[in-house]
Amino acid sequence: MPPPIIAPSILAADFARLAEEARAVEGAADWLHVDVMDNHFVPNLTIGLPVVQSLIKTSTLPFDVHLMIEQPERWSIGYAEAGAYNVTFHVEAADDPVALAKNLRAAGSRAGLAIDRDTPVEPYLELLPHFDTLLIMTIKAGFGGQAFMPELLDKVRAARRQVDAGHLELRIEVDGGIARDTIEAAAEAGADAFVAGTAVYASADPAAAVRALRQAAGR
Ligand code: DX5
Ligand code: ZN
Repeated sequence: MPPPIIAPSILAADFARLAEEARAVEGAADWLHVDVMDNHFVPNLTIGLPVVQSLIKTSTLPFDVHLMIEQPERWSIGYAEAGAYNVTFHVEAADDPVALAKNLRAAGSRAGLAIDRDTPVEPYLELLPHFDTLLIMTIKAGFGGQAFMPELLDKVRAARRQVDAGHLELRIEVDGGIARDTIEAAAEAGADAFVAGTAVYASADPAAAVRALRQAAGR
């Protein structure tokens, strides 16, 4: 497996100081994870395209945009055009995930497919060749600070088998409750990209927290 990706989630950052909070992990993090929530797909509301368009200009980090929204067909391409490195939408919300993945790649970003807590992964494994990232939630999408659910790692194991068998160049990303005491289990299950909100931004030294996570991932 390639070296792990550590992606701090700004959901746990101070929203009044987003540019500064993003800068705090430059040089330590690989991607910056941005959670877009619409209060329909999930019962929470965060930021949208105008904020991402502005923030992206202030940071050298690749943006990993996680869309927890309905109608991703309508909004995803704007994030790719804004310069996001990776745009991930939820399979539960998409009408035609493969078509949207193609459109995202054509617009210049990587394409990511997200699987929420209550959605099985097996029906979607055959779609993986069309994607660059598979995001497997390790909580129920919607809020930061929830407890990691180790039973969801079975989905990571199934995805890892599929990715290895097909020699796919796809990152398996886990999101939710990732911290120093949970990241190793996720890595062992086969994840190679790790989102961490609270574990990074509730820390007094976010860059050091990222480095500690990388070390705990054990690779
Ligand atoms: C929740 C978001 C996560 C969130 C994770 O739906 O997708 O990215 O920021 O937060 P922690 O790391 O605190 O569980
Ligand atoms: Zn997320």
